[in-house]
Amino acid sequence: MSGISNPLQAPNEAQGAACGPADGGQEQVLTLDEAVAYASLLHRRGDLDEAEAIYREVLARREDHPDCLHFLGILMHQRGDDAAAETLIRASIERVANPAGQWNNLGNVFVESGRLDAALTCYESSLQAQPDGLDAWNNLATLYRSLGRIQDSVDAACRVVTLDPRHQGARRLLGYAYSRLGQTDQAIAVYREWLAQEPDSPVARHLLAACLGEMPERASDAFVQITFDAFADSFDQKLEKLHYQAPGLVAEALIKALGGAAGPFDILDAGCGTGLCGPLLRPLAKRLTGVDLSGAMLTKAKARQAYDVLHLAELCAYLHHFPASFDAVISADTLCYFGDLAPVAQAAAVALKGPGVLVFTVEALAAPPEEGVPYRLAQHGRYTHSPDYVAQVLAAAGFSAEGLEAVILRREGGVPVEGWLVTARRCASGGDQ
Ligand SMILES: C[S@@+](CC[C@H](N)C(=O)[O-])C[C@H]1O[C@@H](n2cnc3c(N)ncnc32)[C@H](O)[C@@H]1O
Repeated sequence: MSGISNPLQAPNEAQGAACGPADGGQEQVLTLDEAVAYASLLHRRGDLDEAEAIYREVLARREDHPDCLHFLGILMHQRGDDAAAETLIRASIERVANPAGQWNNLGNVFVESGRLDAALTCYESSLQAQPDGLDAWNNLATLYRSLGRIQDSVDAACRVVTLDPRHQGARRLLGYAYSRLGQTDQAIAVYREWLAQEPDSPVARHLLAACLGEMPERASDAFVQITFDAFADSFDQKLEKLHYQAPGLVAEALIKALGGAAGPFDILDAGCGTGLCGPLLRPLAKRLTGVDLSGAMLTKAKARQAYDVLHLAELCAYLHHFPASFDAVISADTLCYFGDLAPVAQAAAVALKGPGVLVFTVEALAAPPEEGVPYRLAQHGRYTHSPDYVAQVLAAAGFSAEGLEAVILRREGGVPVEGWLVTARRCASGGDQ
């Protein structure tokens, strides 16, 4: 979804009334429209308190100021008050000649609060008001995908690409939708066109490789960074809606594996993302470290205040830099961005102390596993692994496998995503480097 926008629009009309945010002791007299524009600037910079105070002051002077109602509605949504957000944005809709932006943002509010049918109506209203509304078409394409209406998602994403041929999000959506429909040739054509415009695009390269059945050893750092920097803001909400289980499963397995040992422990969360595992691991940890390639995901993890330290780094490189440093290394829903697991297992053996514990999840290679196929890069861009391969890689890196359990990691497109929950212990004598 294109995020909720807070456009600093040209003022609708000049007001002439005074409203003055103090500026260095010198009171500036602003028109109401200027005050709304100024508040909108503060709003986009994240200063919600100051922005809200100005919006409310403007509405005290002119209760039907349409932009002010609209922006305050967005702000109330950010504060978690969706009822107030809806009332304010609807009030704005009634007061403007073309409410395309308001309908689009109300749709976004509904998506984020899980009211997908209401969101659909809003995006459609937005497009009635502005048939070439790029954001509304893109949001509609994303929403159709969530609703499992894949052909509709293709049609909407095609509209976005027609309107803006360089729209990467829509190309990704389109390629994904063609893959879901089994139209691999169409997906390949989308990625090839994308590469023709942007030959170095790590996303287009990775997804094209997936469609062509090629097998890079892992997703490139650039692919991971671009993907998760863009996903960070909506990650927690989206994963919650997908009944995401990996953090809970990993934490439970770790508690079981550490059961007998005296804590607290030095724990590394490898690919910590927004830090969903953090609060679950915190009670076990003397020192809890997170490492991730995405700066935006790490910013979210920092806000959770569960980690002692967070590092922006590639996880294998990071593990090699900290030999014999951790009692446990966990990795939830991250090694699906690795095909070859040997480098991770070897690096974890380096970073673990003595008989340290490694717990992680991977996605399951579709059953029945083809003879001898260790892993695949699926068209959605993540890898799936066979359990025999996982066991073999762990043994080769000096681990004894203590658990290899079939689990459901989350749902996607309405169907469960099957995976393996893996617990392994470093053999104290093996893997010492
Ligand atoms: C699906 S998210 C899971 C995040 C978190 N573990 C959770 O369960 O919520 C995968 C994370 O792994 C990170 N990641 C993927 N490959 C990585 C690598 N090679 N090194 C470091 N981080 C990586 C991504 O940036 C992303 O934040």
